[in-house]
Amino acid sequence: MPAIVSRYRSHTCGQLRSSDQGQRVRLSGWVHSYRDHGGLVFIDLRDREGLTQIVFDPDTCGQAVHDEARKLRSEWVISIEGAVGPRGQGLVNPRLATGEIEVHASQLEILSQSPTPPFLPDFEVADADAPKEERRLQYRFLDLRRAEMQQTLRVRHQVTRIMREYLGALGFWEIETPFLTKSTPEGARDFIVPSRLQAGSFYALPQSPQLFKQLLMVGGCDKYMQIVRCFRDEDPRADRQAEFTQLDVEMSFIDRQDIIGHMEGLLVQIWKEVLGIEISTPIPHMDYDQAMNLYGSDRPDLRFGMQLHDITELAHTTDFGVFKNAPMVKCIVVPDGAKMTRAQTDALALWSKEYGAKGLAVTKVSGEGFDTGIAKFINPIAGQIIEMTGAKNGDLLCFAADKPKIVHRVLGELRLKMARDLQLKPSSQFAFVWVVNFPAFEYDEQEKRYSSTHHPFTAPLDEDLKKLDGRDQETIESIRSKAYDIVCNGSEIGGGSIRIHRMDTQQKVFSLLGIDDAAQKLKFGFLLDALQFGAPPHGGIAFGLDRMVMILRNIGNIRDVIAFPKTQSGADIMCGAPSPIDDRQLKEANIRSIMPVIKPPAASE
Ligand code: AMO
Ligand code: AMP
Repeated sequence: MPAIVSRYRSHTCGQLRSSDQGQRVRLSGWVHSYRDHGGLVFIDLRDREGLTQIVFDPDTCGQAVHDEARKLRSEWVISIEGAVGPRGQGLVNPRLATGEIEVHASQLEILSQSPTPPFLPDFEVADADAPKEERRLQYRFLDLRRAEMQQTLRVRHQVTRIMREYLGALGFWEIETPFLTKSTPEGARDFIVPSRLQAGSFYALPQSPQLFKQLLMVGGCDKYMQIVRCFRDEDPRADRQAEFTQLDVEMSFIDRQDIIGHMEGLLVQIWKEVLGIEISTPIPHMDYDQAMNLYGSDRPDLRFGMQLHDITELAHTTDFGVFKNAPMVKCIVVPDGAKMTRAQTDALALWSKEYGAKGLAVTKVSGEGFDTGIAKFINPIAGQIIEMTGAKNGDLLCFAADKPKIVHRVLGELRLKMARDLQLKPSSQFAFVWVVNFPAFEYDEQEKRYSSTHHPFTAPLDEDLKKLDGRDQETIESIRSKAYDIVCNGSEIGGGSIRIHRMDTQQKVFSLLGIDDAAQKLKFGFLLDALQFGAPPHGGIAFGLDRMVMILRNIGNIRDVIAFPKTQSGADIMCGAPSPIDDRQLKEANIRSIMPVIKPPAASE
């Protein structure tokens, strides 16, 4: 990357090569490291593009400049002028792009000083002695200087640039949609903003631009894209932030296969440009049912096997109470798992309770049969289980018996945990899959009503449309939708659907979800109106940009791919948000707080 030449620099700190020898250059940046070797002062000067070694030799720069150079400390900002020269014999640093040269400074300008910083930006997050994350977030401006962080921001920028170029070339328009808006049902809690001009009323920040992008299609915009912030007031997780970014896309006059095809092209382009890796297409499709049955998850990680095996029928033939009476019994084979100790397998059973299991039965394969754990109960069916599962001597079998929902959740999670704990070698670096044919609705036991698996604007499969008139649970649960998720390495990096473009179908879906006519008018009147005035068939998708960058950079924590993320408790500990507001602001916003003011979180939270 060439520097934008200014009075401060002719080149960046990552730019000079041996072919530049003899040139006079000016560089600016931060003092990354400082060494004083018998009268010669060596500085590694750093900017976004890299490091360049600077030498202050009193014979070249004069005593006064050399004296100044000896005062320099880490993270001071300086500008130097000097001549590019070769490094001495045996002093070439092959790990640095600029490792063949050094700059012999003749001038030094100190632009700003720094006290000893709380940490030096010279570590990687995985280093054993890396500062704690809270500290890094408190001083994010220092943390951002690290090469690892800068590389992530570079990749993030590269990805959004490719998205804009790729979709722009296909005729997509980038159109902005409002942030101050009305509640949109993506299933999370809204962040709300009080209205000053309409006392007692509130805006909601969008959980996604879903309805606006559909209205853009009704508005004849045909192909829309936006790289857009979404807001969902839910607890953060390793791959979830309350404020995150989507590539949001919508198209008119298309089918599922058209969108999938164009989006695969985009993924291919991103992986090629960022990593130099060719993704093979078409990316395979997997039905939701198959994903649940074989992997216990609707976002299966296909980098390794350990599939779930259904042994319900066999299990019912045993005398083992836990198995005999369970609606479903499934197992996974953990390769070489027999080496796990009793304490370790007991710990697994305890762990499984977090996922709602009543227990986790285990046994080890030994020769033709089973040994330890529940061996005595199931040895009569050992041969059949071994044949069915392909288990080998030295493997561990783990069984869950319960309702399908719990069996799948527990074994799906166990599969991932075992792959992590035993460091199973993945069979491929990036395993993509489209998960399709989701059920359109799920029954919410707590709320005693149906909710949409994706969102209420997702079209059912054509052949299931007539089932919308059904009222029995079995019929409703058998309705599948035209939704699709794109999953990579077990992470849902995107999801979308073909939408309902007919008012009568949309009304039926709303009624099925328990939204009566009056509520439909109140909440979604504008959408129904729009569908009434000539809506084209349309559909789209949204990618989670943060999650995509996590995968491209092999980073496990979403906070490490966002310049200014929030902590686990939703706080920005650098600027101290959220924070109480004063009475005047409250009054202007027409709200009164009923809560005592909670102290802002301490930096060491
Ligand atoms: P969905 O809710 O599936 O769909 O979101 C799309 C993608 O956004 C990412 N994502 C998140 N990333 C980080 N933190 C979060 N809290 C978070 N929530 C979601 C995921 C997900 O796949 N309007 C629909 C899309 C459509 O139908 O076109 C929507 O928002 O990678
Ligand atoms: P119990 O009969 O409760 O002593 O359990 C015998 C074994 O079966 C123990 O290893 C339990 O962890 C396991 N177990 C109990 N309930 C279940 C279940 N629902 N699914 C799988 N294993 C179970």
